[in-house]
Amino acid sequence: MLGPRKSLTDLTQRTSGHALAKTLSWPHLIALGVGAIVGTGIYTLTGVGAERAGPAVILAFAIAGAVCACAALAYAEMATLIPAAGSAYTFSYVALGEQLAWIVGWSLILEYSLACSTVAVGWSGYLVGWIESAGIHLPHMLLVGPHGGGLVNLPAVLVALGVMGLLVAGTRESATLNIVLVIIKLVALSIFVIMALPAFQGHNLHPFMPYGFGSTEIGGEKRGVMAAAAIVFFAFYGFDAVATSAEEAKNPGRDLTIGIVGSMLVCTLIYMAVAISAIGALPFQQLANSPEPLALVLRSLGQPMAAHLIALAAVIALPSVILVMMYGQSRVFFVMARDGLLPRALATISPRTGAPVRITLLTGISIAIVAGIFRLDEIAELANAGTLIAFMAVGACLMVLRRRAPELPRLFRCPQPMLVGTLTILGCAYLLLSLPSATLVRFAAWNGLGLAFYLLYGRRHSDAGRAERQA
Ligand code: ALA
Repeated sequence: MLGPRKSLTDLTQRTSGHALAKTLSWPHLIALGVGAIVGTGIYTLTGVGAERAGPAVILAFAIAGAVCACAALAYAEMATLIPAAGSAYTFSYVALGEQLAWIVGWSLILEYSLACSTVAVGWSGYLVGWIESAGIHLPHMLLVGPHGGGLVNLPAVLVALGVMGLLVAGTRESATLNIVLVIIKLVALSIFVIMALPAFQGHNLHPFMPYGFGSTEIGGEKRGVMAAAAIVFFAFYGFDAVATSAEEAKNPGRDLTIGIVGSMLVCTLIYMAVAISAIGALPFQQLANSPEPLALVLRSLGQPMAAHLIALAAVIALPSVILVMMYGQSRVFFVMARDGLLPRALATISPRTGAPVRITLLTGISIAIVAGIFRLDEIAELANAGTLIAFMAVGACLMVLRRRAPELPRLFRCPQPMLVGTLTILGCAYLLLSLPSATLVRFAAWNGLGLAFYLLYGRRHSDAGRAERQA
């Protein structure tokens, strides 16, 4: 094993002392999952996916959904076995050892932070489209970063800082607000399908796979179904938010499974319906590169009112995805600092609000800077790289703990764990390799930085390492 491991008993004892109330059943968990999952992925990346795969972006959604379904099953078992904060990072600490846990935690930081930046940029696209469709024109310099000839994406910066402010003030999204936002998002997507599907034209689907299946470099950009799957994968994550609620589930064995797998299933079906409607209504070339493709489809179909409603739904509901992700980020950061792998001073909690203020400020400001400057697809790809590593680790944890500790009571038992674990690892590896090489280089650089920090700091300061040295 790589480095010291956390013991399962310690974790159970630590959490049993501060047990959270068991208030959630499966409808809450599905709502929690759908609330965290449905966001910029479907609202905006459908256009980027169409650019990369052509009409076969529909297939790309199915592939990414299938890989995520395997990862979701692995998460469900791990979350009921180790219902402690930190999700994939904590599972890895128990099953794989500190060094791999560090890589997973460091990758999760990338996942959650950059997912926030991505959603902030997606939100900005819909807000600007919405304002401009009302005839108000804003200065281009303040609407896109330098890559698009502007200075800064100011709306994206502002929404990221706004959500950060809410978290610093100790806000957590209430279950009721989440349900309202889920309904808004789902109604908007249903309106989209109802309006766009009748305009379906079979010829828009031909040729179905203009760039082939595998991810290949064409004209300096990655193209093909797998290249699209590697980016629309973004649309599916967030279900791990359900896994982190394991402690609060009334009947974890049943509710968590239905919650995780159910929200994945609901989202995959909705995404495919939206993608089929969008692709059928407009030639895919027109969707590519639009900052608000769903609104664009409706406007092109002569439905400005419906386009307005979709944009409004996105503007109202997307910040909640940022809230959930930024919250998750601060949790992972917090647990890593509590374990001693990051400076403990970062984990200071405000006595007034109960929020880890320093961590939240640090991450909120970084998220806002990235959102203000970089391109949506580039940020999403890097977030995906981090997430794929975390999912692969969870697949590995599932298999390792089934072998090492088969006797432990598992509230949810993943069917065919060796097959599901292997498929998760292989599926995620294939998606990872389908990302553009520039993303992989950036990801390697991020992990290089992380490993240097681990070697210089974390390895010496971690609780588990200290306990092992003293033993
Ligand atoms: N799945 C989330 C989204 O698409 C992160 O916005």
